[in-house]
Formats: sequence, structure tokens, C-alpha cells
Amino acid sequence: MARTRTVFRCTDCGADAPQWAGQCHGCQAWNTLVEELDGPSVGRLAVITPIKAPVLIADVDPTEFAPRPTGVGELDRVLGGGLVPGSVTLLGGEPGIGKSTLMLQVAAEVAASGQTVLYLSGEESPQQIRLRAERLGALHSRLYLAAEVALPQVVGAMDLVTPDLVIVDSVQTLVDPDLSSAPGSVAQVRECSHRLVREAKARGCAVILVGHVTKEGALAGPRVLEHVVDTVLAFEGDRHHALRLLRVVKHRFGSTQELGLFEMTGKGLKGVPDPSGLFLADRRTGIPGSVVVPTVEGNRPLLVELQVLVANSPLPSPRRSATGLDNGRLALLLAVLQQRVGVVTGNIDVYALAVGGVKVSEPGVDLALGLAVVSSLTDRPVPDDLVACGEVGLGGELRQVAHTPRRLAEAARLGFKQAVVPFSAPAPPDGITAIRVGTLLDAVVRLGLVDAPAMPGRIRPT
Ligand code: TYD
Ligand code: MG
Repeated sequence: MARTRTVFRCTDCGADAPQWAGQCHGCQAWNTLVEELDGPSVGRLAVITPIKAPVLIADVDPTEFAPRPTGVGELDRVLGGGLVPGSVTLLGGEPGIGKSTLMLQVAAEVAASGQTVLYLSGEESPQQIRLRAERLGALHSRLYLAAEVALPQVVGAMDLVTPDLVIVDSVQTLVDPDLSSAPGSVAQVRECSHRLVREAKARGCAVILVGHVTKEGALAGPRVLEHVVDTVLAFEGDRHHALRLLRVVKHRFGSTQELGLFEMTGKGLKGVPDPSGLFLADRRTGIPGSVVVPTVEGNRPLLVELQVLVANSPLPSPRRSATGLDNGRLALLLAVLQQRVGVVTGNIDVYALAVGGVKVSEPGVDLALGLAVVSSLTDRPVPDDLVACGEVGLGGELRQVAHTPRRLAEAARLGFKQAVVPFSAPAPPDGITAIRVGTLLDAVVRLGLVDAPAMPGRIRPT
């Protein structure tokens, strides 16, 4: 059936309009009309589709969806083994973060394992991709390139090379010529990805769609895509640092708890099997204001050094700067320190930093951050072999955080010997002595960061 007519359909109420309008004539909602191909309705499709008999759950063949390793270890870890044939994965990330680099490396590894890969690029020419592939050592005879962006040509290329893996870089450059909207618009991205999902399922080949995200973290244009695909991966990092994090936002075939870590080098992305070692590699010991915190990202424990520097402020409203840490948490901690510990920072600039370009926003860093502020203020360092983790409440009391045993085990692995933890924390692993404390005040006193309770009676150490 030739599909040439397009309509504008309201995403809220489904009303059709022949032309785009700012307001839907059906439900009066604003900016909800999106161009669509006027194909047969879902109801009619259901009538003409042959009925498939329901199958017993025990008769379903699970091996059909067994993941195939890509050969890029950190990606396989995140995907729970590898790419499932017939699945569609969306890889989102800001421009310049390294999506194309990662995809080219994946393409080369998959091709090296004897499968056929089709790399479709609407952003770079085959010459550019070849040059990059040479630099990455990613030239392989089973890796096909095409600079196609029009949907019929893309599907034609899939017919020609019958790939096991198709990589589309990026989904925002694809166009369906039947639609009049511009490439990258919601209508185009939705229609093209729907078609590729159907092709992937029909051919049993895995598809990876690369998508640019905006500063706010939304996929430019189409959040709709996230519902269509099987897996959504987010590639993140600070462009000024080499570290890149690969998170799984949605995964139909496994856990969303895994985290992949890469380092951007002159020869492409390299997996980071020991991130804590990387973060602590350049750590200097004996510095006031420095405290190591064992955090957990997904399922992976990471040891991160927090640094705080305080300085007398010439400004009427002193600066508070948090890099890699949550500004709100820092402000909250300074308030708790003032009211519950008696440490006043009203006329002092406070600079806090998570070393290594990593972002730690979980509550488990509270205790370490509080200790780092006091340590910097009193110019007394905490012991080199000490870590601290716990959430600080508004009363200055400490609460346990999730995965404490895993955090402390990672600290023990890297040679730390003491851990400041809340009273309720489980027993520490071998090699770590727990310093159990009830409040932030208790903690700063026990570590000798202040001589005596600065505000005796305000909070009694338990
Ligand atoms: P790229 O993969 O093109 O990013 P994206 O597709 O997400 O827009 O690469 C981004 C940056 O990575 C680029 O500015 C240069 C850098 N880079 C390296 O540092 N080393 C390398 O080996 C490669 C290929 C790129
Ligand atoms: Mg790119």
C-alpha cells in the first residue's frame, strides 16, 4: 500500500487535523499536534492480522533471546551479557561525549567475532569514519559503512548486507521521505525508529540507535523513543575529564543497576576495571579537608576523594561552590554544622569538590562532606586510611545508607583500615575497623577534628 498522505494528530486526544495548528481542535491542548502517516488504523490492522495461538510459558524458547557479547567488556557488563538479536538499543549522550567512538569500537569488535555489521552514519562520511577507524585500530572486513539517511535506502542497505548488527548514527539524521517534517523532528524520529524496530524484529538483527540529548538530559525531540526501544543507555561524563559513565536507564532483558566505566584516551575508549584505583591514583595524604567516601553507582562501589577548602570571605554573601557534588546538600550540611555541631561558616567561602570528574549526589556522602568541611576549618587532617559514609539528618543524626557492606569491602580492597559509620551499620568486612557514631558532632569529636563539643548540650554524643 502506498502511504503518501500525512495527517497531524494530537498526542493527547488523538484528533486528526489536515494542517499543523498550535491548538488541537479536539481537546484544545496547545502544541500537541504531531505529523503522522495516515496508515490503516490499529483496529483495522488487528482484523487483517492472522491470529497467533497463545503459547504455554514453559514452551517459550528462552535461548532465542540469549544475549551475544559485543566484545566491549564494559558495554557487555551494562547489557547483562551483550546485545540480544532482534533488540533495539538507544544510546543517548551529549554531543562530543564519545558516542560515535564507542559505536565504532563496538562495530569493530562485533565484526571481529565473525558477525556482519552495518554502520550507517548521517553525520560523517565513510572517509571520515575510515580515518577514525584506522586510529582506533577498528578496520575490519565484515564492517560495512553507508552514509544513508533516507529510510528506504537504509532498509535497502540492510537487504544488501544482511547484517547481524546495525548501528544508526544518529537517529536524528534519519528521514522518512513520506513525511514533510524536518529530520530530527518528533514525527521523523518516531516514524523512523518505529520502522527500524519492525525491521530488527523481522530480521532478528540487533539495532543500536545513537541519539543526541539536550543539556537537560532529554533526548532532543523524542522522549517517545524511550518507549519504543528495548534498552536505553545513557553515555555521560564531564568533557574536561577522561572518565565516561555508561548507565542503563531501561532494559527489557536484564538489570538496570549496572554501570560501565570508560576512559577516553588518544586511542579511543578504554574500559576502566578498577575505577576506585583510578580516582585515588593521584591522592596526596595528610591534607586537611580531604576525606574518602565509598559511594555506590548502580551496583558498583566507587571510592571517591572529597576535598573541601575554606577561606575567609571578603564578600558580604560568601561563596559556596560544589563541583561534582550537590549544591543543596552542601548548603544543608553547612546549616546542620552550624546548628547542631556549632561550626559556623557564615563569613567563610566554602569550595567542595569530588575529585576525578565524577558526580556524587547520593546522601551517603553527607558524613564525609561534613567531616571534610570541619577538617579544612580546623586544619586537622583525618587519618589516611579512613573512609566515612552515612547520611546526615537535619538533627545532625547519622543514618545508614544502602549497600554499606559492599562499600566497605571496596574500601578494604584498596587498603583502607577504618570506617566512620552510623551505629546501625552492619559489621564491617575483615581488615576494616568500624568507628560507630550517632551524630555528626560525635564523629568530629571522635576523629579529633575539634577539641571538645563546640556547643555542649546541644547534641549529646550517644
Ligand atoms: P565522538 O565519538 O565523535 O563524540 P559524539 O559522537 O558523542 O559526538 O568523539 C568525541 C570526542 O572524543 C572528540 O572531541 C575527540 C575525542 N576523541 C579522543 O579523545 N580520542 C579518540 O580516540 C577519539 C576517536 C575521539
Ligand atoms: Mg557522533
